[in-house]
Amino acid sequence: MPVVGPKEMFDRAYKEGYAVGAFNVNNMEIIQGIVAAAAEEQAPLILQVSAGARKYAGQTYIVKLVEAALAESDLPICLHLDHGPDFQLCKDCIDGGFTSVMIDGSHLPYAENIAVTRQVVEYAHARGVWVEAELGKLAGVEEHVSSEVSVYTDPDQAVDFVKRTGCDSLAIAIGTSHGAYKFTGEAKLDFDRLEKITGLMPGYPLVLHGASSVPQEFVDMGNKYGAKLGGAKGVPEDLLRRAAKLGVCKINIDSDIRLAMTANIRKYLAENPEKFDPRDYLKPARQAVKDMVRRKIKNVLGCSNKI
Ligand code: G3H
Ligand code: 13P
Ligand code: ZN
Repeated sequence: MPVVGPKEMFDRAYKEGYAVGAFNVNNMEIIQGIVAAAAEEQAPLILQVSAGARKYAGQTYIVKLVEAALAESDLPICLHLDHGPDFQLCKDCIDGGFTSVMIDGSHLPYAENIAVTRQVVEYAHARGVWVEAELGKLAGVEEHVSSEVSVYTDPDQAVDFVKRTGCDSLAIAIGTSHGAYKFTGEAKLDFDRLEKITGLMPGYPLVLHGASSVPQEFVDMGNKYGAKLGGAKGVPEDLLRRAAKLGVCKINIDSDIRLAMTANIRKYLAENPEKFDPRDYLKPARQAVKDMVRRKIKNVLGCSNKI
């Protein structure tokens, strides 16, 4: 099966009140772990590649690894560019076989965000590729965007933005943020704002970035074996389930995979100091990715048996 676009995935997710998981990939073990979990759960899947991941692995490697995953499974898999920083990178990914791209102009003035999103939409739609854009700012750090404070998405502006750009899905800011330190106090999302946006744009697929839950057991496991992750806190799983019933069709998860993988590598190496074959510690790491993704599919996304 070739890579697919996300339209059918989102249409069904919206109607049935669940979300599709978009998991960040950087290497073979991460891809294998994620795909094995989705195959066991018979879940639709988005594999997403950030600009940093593309730089780390190389676009050809990543695309070929995803093609290998497709050849080994019968799953519908969408290959998506995460946080595309500019038109050129979006174009390169579209030309290289991605079925979906995100143009992230959220850090730009409104008119410039519209202009660059519109430019990507024109190029992508002429080639049958889906475009996600972002309006509002998430606190936290990405490859090219860094914000100390979040600026939540204005519902009326979201309507205007979608109308003027023609983007196919929209990432919104309602309280999530990237990384493992999302809240200092109580974890909460602005559901009133989400309901307002959904009410103004019924049927339109929304995207939630920064949606890792930072499970305490992996923070503890990491810390036990030498990590320094004090104060790490994520989005509670039940809040994400609620968002998935309110028009959020795509939920982005990266940090939880990193935490699970790294905690397990730390544990393995601490318990087996004589080992130095990377396969020895990458095997439990890959298994940890798989277990984490299955947990997400079941507890957060609700997309088991939806293919
Ligand atoms: O939102 C950002 C993703 O977690 C990707 O992170 O830029 O470090 O690859 P990265
Ligand atoms: P997390 O850092 O919460 O996993 O978010 C990932 C993300 O939004 C990727 O675009
Ligand atoms: Zn993101």
